[in-house]
Amino acid sequence: MAVRHFLQFKDFSRAEFEYLFQRARVIKDKFKRYETHHPLFDRTLVMIFEKASTRTRLSFEAGMQQLGGSAIYLNTRDSQLGRGEPVEDSAEVISRMSDLVMIRTFEQSIIERFAAHSRVPVINGLTNEYHPCQILADIFTFIEYRGAIEGKTVAWVGDSNNMCNTWLQAAEVLNFKVHVSTPPGYELDPHLVKVAGNPHLQVFADPMEACRDAHLVTTDVWTSMGFEAENEARIKAFADWRVDAEMMKIAAPDAVFMHCLPAHRGEEVTAEVIDGPQSVVWDEAENRMHAQKALMEYLLLGKL
Ligand code: CP
Ligand code: NVA
Repeated sequence: MAVRHFLQFKDFSRAEFEYLFQRARVIKDKFKRYETHHPLFDRTLVMIFEKASTRTRLSFEAGMQQLGGSAIYLNTRDSQLGRGEPVEDSAEVISRMSDLVMIRTFEQSIIERFAAHSRVPVINGLTNEYHPCQILADIFTFIEYRGAIEGKTVAWVGDSNNMCNTWLQAAEVLNFKVHVSTPPGYELDPHLVKVAGNPHLQVFADPMEACRDAHLVTTDVWTSMGFEAENEARIKAFADWRVDAEMMKIAAPDAVFMHCLPAHRGEEVTAEVIDGPQSVVWDEAENRMHAQKALMEYLLLGKL
């Protein structure tokens, strides 16, 4: 049987996400009760990082240990990965000594090439194009607070980056709407997301209008990892795309605010919003671990 990977959000069906969300709930409850849950006893996760991380590393490493397995951290700096060994060769070798691989890298094509040569499931821990594990956790968090996301509206304010692209994939799989507002020159890439005729997408020039009646308002850094050279130009271009109290006010009365973190208070979001009563960012961050535990268990053992 072909090995399953989680490289993009759309790699899984709606029924699979429904299973993962209810499984994450069960796994989170066990964690809160200090109940031992070791379905992945003796299994090994390899985590490859070509970019920095706090949450992704911690949530995968702690999560794998809590599932009874172990996690090995590799980075580009002190492995052969940064010295030109072909991705395909690395995949052949790494996947012979492990049960599961998580990769954070630059182009999506790198992780696709790795997966094509891997004997074990590969998970996308963020690429330039997508961040599916984060959206898995975000939607699990939304469900915890507000119930099903189907039919709801998510407002995306800011850069058309990996998070935004993944929200749009999720909207198609789980049937909700995304209002996107980006500054001129930073619009969605039609090679990555369906823009024209997409019933799940509405594009707004004005970020306030994007937030109107939204059930979830979310944003992300103006400059993603790998794009640091553009930082100065972006600070100027994005000045009006800062989520503030006015935007939260025009959203639905019970709207929640999310941010994948790390955040820059005073840039993409005001301190008042991210530290305010509608913000669920700490639960969102914690849920990375619970959701990914469900994901790892599912990739290795299927439905339990
Ligand atoms: N949200 C997220 O992926 O955080 P890290 O970059 O800290 O892993
Ligand atoms: N868009 C951000 C997300 C960080 C978790 C980046 O790619 O740097």
